[in-house]
Amino acid sequence: MTQVKKPSTEVGQVKRASLSDRLLSTKVKVLAKIILSVFVAPAILYGLFFLFLRYQTQLTRIEIKQVSVKEKRPVYWLYNAREPQSTGHLKHVIRVLERLGFERGSNESDWDLLWAHDYPFKNLYSQLYQPKPHQLINHFPGCGYITNKVDLSTSEGDFLPKSFKIPEDKDKLLEFVEKNPEKTFVQKSNAHRGIKIQRVQELNLTAVGSFVQEFIERPYLVDGFKFDIGIYTVVTSIDPLRVYAYKGDVLFRFCPVEYYPFDPENIDKYVVGDDYLPIWNVPSLKNSYTKLGLSMKESFDTYVRSTGKDPQRMWDACFDAIKNVLLQKEAQIRDVVEKRFRGTRRNFFELVRFDFTVDENLDVFMMEANMSPNLSSAHYPPNQLLYEQVLYNLFSLIGLAQRTRKDSLKPGSKEERDMVVADKNLVVLPEVCSECEDCFKVECQLCRFCFTDDTRRILTQTYWEHQNKMDYLRLFPPVIKKNMVLKDYSLRNQLLVRWFQGKCELDPTWCN
Ligand SMILES: *[C@@H]1O[C@H](CO)[C@@H](O)[C@H](O)[C@H]1NC(C)=O
Ligand SMILES: *[C@@H]1O[C@H](CO)[C@@H](O)[C@H](O)[C@H]1NC(C)=O
Ligand SMILES: *[C@@H]1O[C@H](CO)[C@@H](O)[C@H](O)[C@H]1NC(C)=O
Repeated sequence: MTQVKKPSTEVGQVKRASLSDRLLSTKVKVLAKIILSVFVAPAILYGLFFLFLRYQTQLTRIEIKQVSVKEKRPVYWLYNAREPQSTGHLKHVIRVLERLGFERGSNESDWDLLWAHDYPFKNLYSQLYQPKPHQLINHFPGCGYITNKVDLSTSEGDFLPKSFKIPEDKDKLLEFVEKNPEKTFVQKSNAHRGIKIQRVQELNLTAVGSFVQEFIERPYLVDGFKFDIGIYTVVTSIDPLRVYAYKGDVLFRFCPVEYYPFDPENIDKYVVGDDYLPIWNVPSLKNSYTKLGLSMKESFDTYVRSTGKDPQRMWDACFDAIKNVLLQKEAQIRDVVEKRFRGTRRNFFELVRFDFTVDENLDVFMMEANMSPNLSSAHYPPNQLLYEQVLYNLFSLIGLAQRTRKDSLKPGSKEERDMVVADKNLVVLPEVCSECEDCFKVECQLCRFCFTDDTRRILTQTYWEHQNKMDYLRLFPPVIKKNMVLKDYSLRNQLLVRWFQGKCELDPTWCN
């Protein structure tokens, strides 16, 4: 057939040849297209993709490098004299700071915050006596006047159990015993908490540096257990004084053994130690705390209300006691700061836990003020939340947790500072100020044209604290009321209270 067909027409042959040529070229093209689409294009695409990947990795690498070079963060320095290597008990301090974008440095860094577990001003005086304006330190020089047991317990006030310095007040003690022969006592010193109840005959009335304190009998009991209350308190300024108490929760610690039948030999009945009974194991409070999820304070308050009593009076008494003690100690602390840290009064703050016991009438007695309160949740993990919230709220209050992104706590541009707190936020008393002709009259010092740098700084910080106190309650300056008597306060305190009065007149949210 092919043979017959072959010679049939030359034209046909030519045509067929050109046709097959064309067919061939079409086939080649199709083949080429197929090859192109199946192999080359993916290869090119893959190549591009590969390049892209490489490029991208490099880009990211560059970016990471730039970020680590560019992103400076505020720096904290931890000081722990007794155990320099161990920071386990500061775990929550470190965590909260790092969540706020701080990084750990040392005394060699340009630090923004020194968090010292131990009183730092003796060992580190040469490094601390002239802090830079942006540096904050978590203690006041001289805070021992509050936290020292002898100093605290021999202050004035009904809220303190009767205390006698030994040997100085020995005679007063014996006189007191004569009038109150049924009283029992505990003897304590700064170094250790010799806490066992003793009769007066058993006391050592020659032990220098100790004190004898009346033992509060008939404590308020929950399910038979005695307890103490720890209120976290922050002092942000001395002269003028500013004090805040954490109201988000308080620490409740119960004695592990029921109080009655009473036995002075068994201190687990009346002393709260490291192995205290936590609130979630106290039958009457367990449900509120664990099931309803209330705070320790609310769980206790709910219980007290269920017995027909009002817990608020007790809290008010605690807050009053704290305010009173700090007003009494302010001048002594101010003197230490003035003498040894001239001109650097605004770099310090203090977190103190004030411990109270409560008697059966819900009267409160201040027992201790703890500098560097224990914030370790190692023994009782549920306390982690309390500690971290106390710290988070504290860092907000004192301006470590800023809303603007910052490399450090150094002040930014004037525009930025004004955005945060401007003069117009500080101005009060329009009627008084429009009458002021000069700055001699004390009240006129609160008018803008009389602001000194120090006044402006104090008011700016106070304004910030008011706006950022979150779950802290202002204890001093106190709630603004009509007809307040200011004359017992220092001049600087009077002026700051007057400023709050001015703010309160303009805007009632400032009254407390
Ligand atoms: C930091 O502390 C070390 C050792 O405690 C001390 O030798 C050094 O001088 C301190 N650095 C600064 C800048 O003060
Ligand atoms: C009383 O205290 C003093 C000083 O601390 C001490 O020397 C003395 O031994 C103590 N006396 C008793 C009986 O413990
Ligand atoms: C702090 O509390 C923990 C328990 O949570 C305890 O183990 C530790 O001894 C306490 N530290 C101090 C210094 O009291």
